[in-house]
Amino acid sequence: MPIDYKHIKKQFEKSLNDYDKNAIVQDLMASKMVLELSKHKKEFDNILELGSGTGLATKRIIREIKYKNYYANDIVEKSKLYLQKIIPEVNFLHGNALKIKPSRKMDLIISNAMFQWFENLDKAIDILKFSLEKDGFLAFSTFAPDNFAELKDITGLSLQYKSQEEIKEIIEKLGFEILYCENFYEELNFKTPLELLAHMKKTGVNSLSEKTWTVKKVKDFCDRYSKKYPKTKLTYSPIIVIAKNRF
Ligand SMILES: C[S@@+](CC[C@H](N)C(=O)[O-])C[C@H]1O[C@@H](n2cnc3c(N)ncnc32)[C@H](O)[C@@H]1O
Repeated sequence: MPIDYKHIKKQFEKSLNDYDKNAIVQDLMASKMVLELSKHKKEFDNILELGSGTGLATKRIIREIKYKNYYANDIVEKSKLYLQKIIPEVNFLHGNALKIKPSRKMDLIISNAMFQWFENLDKAIDILKFSLEKDGFLAFSTFAPDNFAELKDITGLSLQYKSQEEIKEIIEKLGFEILYCENFYEELNFKTPLELLAHMKKTGVNSLSEKTWTVKKVKDFCDRYSKKYPKTKLTYSPIIVIAKNRF
């Protein structure tokens, strides 16, 4: 399924108000990513955060990491308002992360739960590398192919997720040293399949699915889910990567 940026933008815009209360796994990913990064380096002159959203990861980043200049980016312009509340002097770069032109090279490019939206991860990291200093750090979290296994099973819908091994290979080929890479599982439980769908909507994740969930489609999904699974759960399969730009 090709990535439709307009659709992603619309879904995330709609989910901003509810996002923080519902993005439990994304918050866990951010805290793990920051913890692992801080084991290697805790101070950077210039930081660029991609896909900053409501600033859920930003809060975790600035709690542990010192910086001189903070640049943040999101395809949704309203993210700027959230970021300014956390970092009043933030330099916000609105637009597609692969199209923005930062005014300087960065010492850290960091992104939580966003790289899965890149259609071509090789190309995306190659583009981002232009904005990264030699010996600069790249820290990101994304999802593995078995992410949302239950959903894929019922609907057949999924992003083109890459495995931990594939990601490692891409990053090394592009001249990075991998300092840390982990794939873990986190299961969320819900009372009903309808509650599961609401959770996905509130975290903007339903942008991976069909554009219109008609009443009939929602009912079909709930019926099929209940028949197949005795309890309603959604399994996240996040990947955390910390890497250093060797040249
Ligand atoms: C799951 S949210 C994560 C938000 C935040 N990083 C966090 O940890 O909570 C993904 C964010 O990436 C943004 N996004 C998706 N694709 C993007 C792209 N190509 N360029 C910039 N932002 C993008 C979305 O608008 C959304 O705010």
